[in-house]
Amino acid sequence: MERLLIINAKALVGVRPKGLRSVPGRSMGELPHVADAWLLIEDGRISDLGPMSALADSMEGHRVIDARGRYVLPGWCDPHTHTVHAASREEEFVHKIKGLTYQEIAARGGGILNSANTLRRMSEDELFVKAKARLERMMAQGTVAVEIKSGYGLSLESELKMLRVVKRLKEALPLQVKATLLAAHALPLEFKDDRRGYLDLIVNELIPQVHRDGLADFVDAFCETNYFTVEEMERVLEAGAAHGLSGKVHVNQFTSIGGIEAAIKHQALSVDHLEVMTEEDLDALALAHANGQAPIPTLLPSCSFFLRIPYGPARQLMDRDLPVALATDFNPGTTPSGNMNFVLSLACIQGRMLPEEAINAMTLNSAAAMDLTGELGSLTPGKRASLIITKEIPSLAFLPYAFGDDHIDTVLIDGTPVRSGAAIA
Ligand code: NIG
Ligand code: FE
Repeated sequence: MERLLIINAKALVGVRPKGLRSVPGRSMGELPHVADAWLLIEDGRISDLGPMSALADSMEGHRVIDARGRYVLPGWCDPHTHTVHAASREEEFVHKIKGLTYQEIAARGGGILNSANTLRRMSEDELFVKAKARLERMMAQGTVAVEIKSGYGLSLESELKMLRVVKRLKEALPLQVKATLLAAHALPLEFKDDRRGYLDLIVNELIPQVHRDGLADFVDAFCETNYFTVEEMERVLEAGAAHGLSGKVHVNQFTSIGGIEAAIKHQALSVDHLEVMTEEDLDALALAHANGQAPIPTLLPSCSFFLRIPYGPARQLMDRDLPVALATDFNPGTTPSGNMNFVLSLACIQGRMLPEEAINAMTLNSAAAMDLTGELGSLTPGKRASLIITKEIPSLAFLPYAFGDDHIDTVLIDGTPVRSGAAIA
């Protein structure tokens, strides 16, 4: 058996009992920890942990990491990304600086259709190589699980190509990968005058085939003014449900058009973005939560930062006891960054989440937002030993506080280093 013992950790953070699915909003300020502690890894999983005062002599002789002065945390789970894409879009970024909005750029043929053009022309192999490099950077930044969406193919053939790339990434890399079919991301030009035809293609052909080939875990739709209507999203969610694929949906990014209530009705796993929320939207989520049926509200603060749009109402959601999750939204149009550490700083600085709340939101709650809560998201015996060991830092709040700097020393995925710092040397 492969054994690895971490000793002298300043604290083990996010120590939770088995079986906890998510942390409800009003409890997110609590982040249970064990100070001056050890953690044992056996065959890639956490097998036990405790304070140094209770470390048995029999533990000696294992391979040891001395984490003196360092925190040990569950690795970041990123439950909303578009990491497979062909090319960056910094020309649109410059247009935005000059004053155009995201919607104006899209209306000129930029935006998602721009990315679809480049992706359709790119080979599967090239897409794979590019996405793999992005994921390797994200792992070095502490990400141990990621959800990746299609949505830049917008045809049967190219959406399947994207999902095959996601499948290859899952096989090639150690982090956990979940795949989401987002064919309803924008209306492709070929269907400009036939919205219904495109929805038929998604519902009657793509979803059944994706299900048959085991290419996706979830379905998504961009429910937004000028993109897809609530009714169209509902068709996607219904077809997904009929094939065992639950929904993780883009709603309320620019306008509130009823997507949240529809997502609740169809028992979506998560509702993502939420930059523009009415009282009715918040109350609908709170009511669903009281009935034990709320989708997980997933906020994407680096998208708000990049587009200069409002931040999702983290405090209002937490006040209603909802288990808020955080993700990057890594994509070339609205968030050209897959760095969860920046998300942590923004969630605290702009979203007024406490450091403990934000860390719960990007570990256990974000694992729940991609159905990985049994495997990841807390330091719990039996879960995967996918961990972050920080540099020597004065306190946990220092992580979001000293923004833009790199506070990670070592990252383990299933007990194996994907980044080795001083703690391992
Ligand atoms: O989550 N809002 C829709 N989809 C992406 C942006 C896609 C793009 O601009 O390429 C998002 O922000
Ligand atoms: Fe997105």
